[in-house]
Amino acid sequence: MCGIVGYIGEKPAASVLLDTLSRLEYRGYDSAGIATLYQGQIHAGKDAGSLMEVVAKQHLDMLPGNIGIGHTRWATHGGISAANAHPHMDCDNEIAVVHNGIIENYEILRQRLKGTHRFLSQTDSEVIPHLLDEYVHTGLSLEQALQKVVKELEGSYAILAISSREPDKIVGARRESPLIIGISPEGNYLASDALAFHGITDRVILIEEGECVVVTRVGVSIYNESGEKVKRAPIKTDWYHGELSKGLYDYFMLKEIHEQPAAIRRAVCQETAEVMAIAAEIRRVKHVVFTACGTSRHAALIGRYVFSKVAGIFGEVVMASEFEYFIESVDSQTLVLAISQSGETADVLDGVRRAKVKGAKIISLVNTVDSSLARLSDRVLYMKSGPEVGVAATKTFTAQLTLLYLLAFALADKYEEGKNQLTSVTAKIEESLVADADETNDLALKLKNQHDFYFIARGINFAVAAEGALKLKEVAYVHAEGMPAGELKHGTLALIDRGTPVVAICPHDYTFDEILPNIAETAARGAYVIGVSDKFESLFNEWIRIPPVPELFYPLVTIIPLQLFAYHSAVFRALDPDKPRNLAKSVTVK
Ligand code: M6R
Repeated sequence: MCGIVGYIGEKPAASVLLDTLSRLEYRGYDSAGIATLYQGQIHAGKDAGSLMEVVAKQHLDMLPGNIGIGHTRWATHGGISAANAHPHMDCDNEIAVVHNGIIENYEILRQRLKGTHRFLSQTDSEVIPHLLDEYVHTGLSLEQALQKVVKELEGSYAILAISSREPDKIVGARRESPLIIGISPEGNYLASDALAFHGITDRVILIEEGECVVVTRVGVSIYNESGEKVKRAPIKTDWYHGELSKGLYDYFMLKEIHEQPAAIRRAVCQETAEVMAIAAEIRRVKHVVFTACGTSRHAALIGRYVFSKVAGIFGEVVMASEFEYFIESVDSQTLVLAISQSGETADVLDGVRRAKVKGAKIISLVNTVDSSLARLSDRVLYMKSGPEVGVAATKTFTAQLTLLYLLAFALADKYEEGKNQLTSVTAKIEESLVADADETNDLALKLKNQHDFYFIARGINFAVAAEGALKLKEVAYVHAEGMPAGELKHGTLALIDRGTPVVAICPHDYTFDEILPNIAETAARGAYVIGVSDKFESLFNEWIRIPPVPELFYPLVTIIPLQLFAYHSAVFRALDPDKPRNLAKSVTVK
């Protein structure tokens, strides 16, 4: 994962780097650091901790110069420590490098360099400045050296480097990790995600797979894998709807939960022709395979039910990290529907690349415009959720569901009906967010000392149980399991004891009568039952009331109180729900 940034221009580099990095902290917050160039010397500071903590400890804002690079880390190779924080340097402190990705052959490279180079970290990334140094000492320029170095690297990377010998440029390269250039009259920027440029510039240049770049104050040069110069004009982006501040909310997660009605309304506004074209592709193939990770996979699980119920189309959901093990069954009669908020999740990209090789059609549902997944796909529908800063996915989950409903209704030739239904359900969500006020807050307070939760549901609601459990684990660090209610008796029931919280997602739909016996089985063993429903049932110890909606759409309304419950549970445990430990929003490693 990790986020990288670079700047060269008229402004003080340190403040620009810290500002842009602060918008990339969703990519990791284990450690941070920057390096600037001033009067022929590299000035660097780095440490373990979040960006704000490192700034306070290392006074990063004081580093001089108008050119520099920065990094925020999610640890993979090497623990969370100051030594493993980026930037990394060559032995003479003449070259500084930041890297996002994984250098798979770093052990071999390190062994080769060890005799003549001093390593200070346990990271894979540190081989890069030493390799650059080797080539620069043969007389090559920094960009020529980088072009040589990337040929030796196996794995994924977005790299930025500066050198005190060539103080007027930043060089960069990417493969399987994103890197984007931002253009402005006050200087030029580089970053892992254009979100870094929010409020600075909307003119960007996308760097393609395998390319190297040289960015100066006044221009940009791009080279393809063969070293030939490539011409590419900047494009204008208005990718990000919405504010990047918390506004009146204490945390982004709460703000984003409340943004859901607006996010659903934006997701509903799709080009009809594009939705129809995708529906036609889906009808044409024999096999539909949804693939995604985490929350996006939960959306896929619901999508599978919706496709079946509305359009009679059977689809399989394959966890993206397991996709490669089914690749033998993929062919040109397969359509892969890949779902990803970031469009950068390595497991998803890997599955999609493999499926493409086998001739499959790739359709993706993505939030980040022009992300790697979007660019790999034959067709894309964008969620249009705007930036989701909280690591826990909330508004993008309901936006993903919205797109899946739209597709299902388009497949059934009932597109307009689907849109109308979504619009009226959105109004109900809006009302329920207002009505909730203290309900989930009070419940979270009451259950604040509980350590194990079981979320159960049936049919289309099962994935809501899984998602409710994931939210609670992720932000409140509480053990939670989400499962089909019918499975309880096959083992998990052994864990239900007096007072164990069981959250039953049981809207008054086709699953209601069937889940009641399962709830009763837990109640009989002393479970504390929290019913999420529009219909009261005497088995409930607590009732989280939801508005009645057409039964297909219950997942859009039942998930809201579960997100809020997880949020309040985190806050009552004095945790920051926006930055859960050990996690990052964009998981760009396999
Ligand atoms: O960007 P993606 O949708 O591909 O991310 C997939 C998962 O990493 C993500 O949904 C993760 O599970 C969330 N943090 C859960 O809230």
